[in-house]
Amino acid sequence: MRILFLVHSFNSLSQRLYCDLTARGHTVSVEFDVADSVAEEAVALFAPHLVIAPFLKRAIPASIWSRHVCLVVHPGIVGDRGPSALDWAIREGESNWGVTVLQAEAEMDAGPVWASAEFALGRRKKSSIYRNEVTEAAATAVLQAIERFQAGDFVPRPPGREARGRLRPLMGQEERRIDWEADDTATVLAKLDAADGFPGVADRLFGEPCRLFDGAPEARLRGRPGALLARRESAVCRATADGAVWLGQARPERPEACKLPLALAFPQALELPAAPLPGWWRADHPTWQDIAYEEAGEPGRAVGFLAFEFYNGAMGTDQCRRLTAAFRWAATRPTRVIVLQGGADFWSNGIHLNVIEAAESPADESWANINAIDDLAEAILNCGSHLTIAALQGNAGAGGCFLARAADLVWTRAGVMLNPHYKNMGNLYGSEFWTYLLPPQVGADGARAIMRHRLPMTAGEAVDLGFYDACLPGPAAAFRVDVARRALELAAAPDFPGRLAAKAAKRARDEAEKPLSKYRHEELNEMRRNFYGFDPSYHVARYHFVSKSPPSWTPRHLAIHRDLGWVKPV
Ligand code: COA
Repeated sequence: MRILFLVHSFNSLSQRLYCDLTARGHTVSVEFDVADSVAEEAVALFAPHLVIAPFLKRAIPASIWSRHVCLVVHPGIVGDRGPSALDWAIREGESNWGVTVLQAEAEMDAGPVWASAEFALGRRKKSSIYRNEVTEAAATAVLQAIERFQAGDFVPRPPGREARGRLRPLMGQEERRIDWEADDTATVLAKLDAADGFPGVADRLFGEPCRLFDGAPEARLRGRPGALLARRESAVCRATADGAVWLGQARPERPEACKLPLALAFPQALELPAAPLPGWWRADHPTWQDIAYEEAGEPGRAVGFLAFEFYNGAMGTDQCRRLTAAFRWAATRPTRVIVLQGGADFWSNGIHLNVIEAAESPADESWANINAIDDLAEAILNCGSHLTIAALQGNAGAGGCFLARAADLVWTRAGVMLNPHYKNMGNLYGSEFWTYLLPPQVGADGARAIMRHRLPMTAGEAVDLGFYDACLPGPAAAFRVDVARRALELAAAPDFPGRLAAKAAKRARDEAEKPLSKYRHEELNEMRRNFYGFDPSYHVARYHFVSKSPPSWTPRHLAIHRDLGWVKPV
C-alpha cells in the first residue's frame, strides 16, 4: 500500500513505524504539518491508500479525512481524549496505560477505534515512557489496524460506554506546580516525570523563572523544604517536604534560552556545596549519578559494566572527558570485558547541541566537543587490556552510532532506532572515526549509502548490513540480563586470550597501514570547515534543532511524492 505519514516532526515513534511498514513492503512517504494546503497537496500527489498520523499536534483537515481513511495514533487507552494523555496517566498513578489507533473525524480523538494495545505503566519520565512502552504499543496497534484495513471487512467502532478512558483537558502549569513546602518527594517526582521532555515544570531558581526537567530521587541529603542543598556535576539537589530530589536540567524563561544541564543554565549553582560521589562505582542508595560502574563474575574472568545516563543522549565536552576518565579507570580493573551500557533511553546522540548553542563561541565549543568525543572513541579503540562491548538498550543518533562501533562488539536491543548519519545537521561531515570504522563493516559503497540516505535504521537492519553484531529481542530489562549473560560467557570462554591477542594484532596492522591519528586529522579537517568555514549550514541547522523551530518544509528524502521522478498514481 501507499501510506502517507502526516507528522509534526519525524520523531522516534514515526521513525519506528516508518521502518516497520517499509520492511513489510509498504511504500511510505512523509509530509510535515506545515499547512493544510501543503498536506492536501501531498495527498493529491501521493494518492495514498491510507493516511497515518503517528505524531501530529493539530487536527487533520476535513478535506483529507472526509475522502481518505486517516488513522491517528493517540498515546492513551481506548476512550481517552485530549492533548495531555500521558501526563495525566503518570500524575494519576495509572498502573496500566495504552495506545489507541483511531480514525480521524471532526471531533479530535473521538473517532472509531481500529486497534489498541496496553502496557504496564511504571513510575518513569514521560519522555522515556513515550520512547519505550508507547512506541512498542503503537507499533503493535498500527500493524493490527493496517491488517484490518487490508482485510476490508473490519468495521471500526467508537469507544463504548465500558471504555475506561475519558476526555481530559490540557494539563496547564497550574496543575503542574510544585509546592516545595508541602509536596513530598514522590509527588515532586511525579510532577517532574509527567512534564519531562516537554513542557517541564514552571518554577523559579536563583530568583529567576524557569522550567525544570529531569528529576531523580535522593535518599540521604535533607534540608529545609525548597532549599537548594548541593550540586553534583551539573545537577542540583533540592529539599522536598520529606526528603530531597535532584534536578538535572532547566530552561530559563529568557528569550533564546534552551534546555541545559542545570549548572550551565544557572552558573550560580556552582556556589552550592559540592556533593561528589566517591569514584565511579554505582552508589548503593538512590541518588543522581550520570556515570556508574559495576562488576559481575568470578575473579579473573569478571565483567565491568559502565553505564552513562546522559540526558537525551547528548554528550557535552565535560561529559565526554569524564566518561573517558571512567573508561580508562575501568580498563585498569581486574576484569576481562567492559560493557558500555549507555543510558536507558539513549546510548548516545553525539555532541551536545544545546550546550554548543548556549556557548559564547558555538564554533569553539563544537570543536572542543568533537575532540572530546574523539578522545573517548580513541580510548575505546586502543583498549588492549579488555574486549569491549557497546550494548545499546536505547536509541543512538549521528556520532553516537559510530562511537558505539569503536567497541569490539556492538549488541543492540530489537526496537532500538538508529540514525547513523550526520547530514541532517547542516551537512556535517562527522568524525568519531567513522571513516575508519564503517567501510570494513559495510563496504565503501555501503558506507556512502548510509551517509547519503539520511534515513533511520532499525537494529535488525544494522545487523543485516553488518554494521552492528547482534540484535537481541525482548524488553529493556530482558536485554540487560541477556547482555550480562553473554558478556560473562565471553569473559569465561577458553578462547578469550586468543581473541584479545587477535584484537591487538588487528589494531597494530591497521595502525601500520594508516594511523588512527590520520583518520582523525582528515575527519577533523572537514569538521573544522563545518564549524569555522564560510558555509553556515551546520550553525543554522543546530539553531533550528535546539530552538525547535516549526518545520517549514519536508526534507526531500522523506517526501518521496515530491521527488522529481515521482509519477502520480492514477
Ligand atoms: N544534543 C542535544 N540535544 C539532543 C541531541 C544532541 N545531540 N540529540 C537529541 N537531543 C534532544 C532533542 O532536542 C530532544 O529534546 P527534548 O528533551 O527537548 O525533547 C530530545 O533529545 C529527544 O530528541 P528527539 O529528536 O525528540 O528524539 P528522536 O528520538 O525523535 O530523534 C535523533 C533522535 C537522534 C534523530 C535526533 O534527536 C537528532 O537528529 N539529534 C541530533 C543528532 C546530531 O546531529 N548530533 C550531532 C552530531 S554528532
